[in-house]
Amino acid sequence: MRFKIAVLPGDGIGPEVCREAVRVLRALNAFHDSEFQLVEKPIGGEAIRKTGTPLPQSTLETCLNSDAVLLGAVGAPEFDHLSGTQRPETGLLQLRTALGGFANLRPAISFDAIVDCSPLKRSRVEGADVLIVRELLGGLYFSHPRGFGESQRDAFNTMRYSTEEIIRVARVAFEQARSRRKKLTSVDKANVLETSQLWRQTVNQVSLSYPDVKLEHMYVDACAMHLVSNPTRFDVILTENLFGDILSDEAAAITGSLGMLASATVGGTVNLYEPVHGSAPDIAGKGLANPLGAIASAAMLLRHSAGMAQEATDLEAAIHEVLDDGYRTADLAQPGAVNIVSTTKMGELVEQAFVATMDRRFSYHAV
Ligand code: IPM
Ligand code: MN
Repeated sequence: MRFKIAVLPGDGIGPEVCREAVRVLRALNAFHDSEFQLVEKPIGGEAIRKTGTPLPQSTLETCLNSDAVLLGAVGAPEFDHLSGTQRPETGLLQLRTALGGFANLRPAISFDAIVDCSPLKRSRVEGADVLIVRELLGGLYFSHPRGFGESQRDAFNTMRYSTEEIIRVARVAFEQARSRRKKLTSVDKANVLETSQLWRQTVNQVSLSYPDVKLEHMYVDACAMHLVSNPTRFDVILTENLFGDILSDEAAAITGSLGMLASATVGGTVNLYEPVHGSAPDIAGKGLANPLGAIASAAMLLRHSAGMAQEATDLEAAIHEVLDDGYRTADLAQPGAVNIVSTTKMGELVEQAFVATMDRRFSYHAV
């Protein structure tokens, strides 16, 4: 069976980290009848430079004809002064809309080996394992009206949610909570915003179908505080688009580096996998980027799109193993750390650990 993946490296460190995620996916081809077929296409600033638009038709078509999409990062400083479709980020937002995935899963985990990379006290982060479920296709990012006023001296965006949009993402969050520690924190600003009041009512209604999941509501400002002062109190966090964007970057403090965080966008026609970090143009091309967020996104692809849950777990274990062995990219370098490796080297180390596990598994089956 062929499994087709559209690979969109994008801007800045996107190509470097994507290359390493592709490396581990290709390594799987040696062990399976199924074959990963990878097709690379431009998006974001790279696509603007090549074709004049951040999401070229041929990129979109390839994505829609694939079984999954793996993306690096978009955003480049040379386009900072522009707005709308002249910005690289618009390509990503258009792609998300076209693929239809409305639930963005962003896990933030405290890894034992790098617990001291967190700016938070060890005693607070140890054992933390939070999954943020971010609504991805609504709210301020997409609702109309939006724009600049005629004088260009005012600008406006709209936060709008329909009951249906809330129900569908809430269901995904409840299902995730059900498969984990059965606790869901729904995050809003219901003391001020009508969208949040509708959000809260609707989530309460959906919760009637999940009596086994304990639901609580929390204001987003309070959540921002609890996330760093007591992260172990959370299991699954459900929230709207902008709140989820902000809280998921904040959650990187739990793990110790934004470079570690992965994401999966599910619920549409084709699922999209991308690290949470941005294009980090300041370190691009220097071998300093951490590819583990991209590699962990590939693991999520194996689990959610390729039906390879075991391989996904093996790949996550390979990431743990390499960190346990003391290897670090620059973002994880603590004073006195010795095994500082480049982006490529980190990818190779994870590939080796992963292949070793697969070797053991397949020779075991062959006996
Ligand atoms: C993310 C990014 C994007 C977002 C940008 C690049 C449009 O910050 O995936 O978190 O805000 O969704
Ligand atoms: Mn973000």
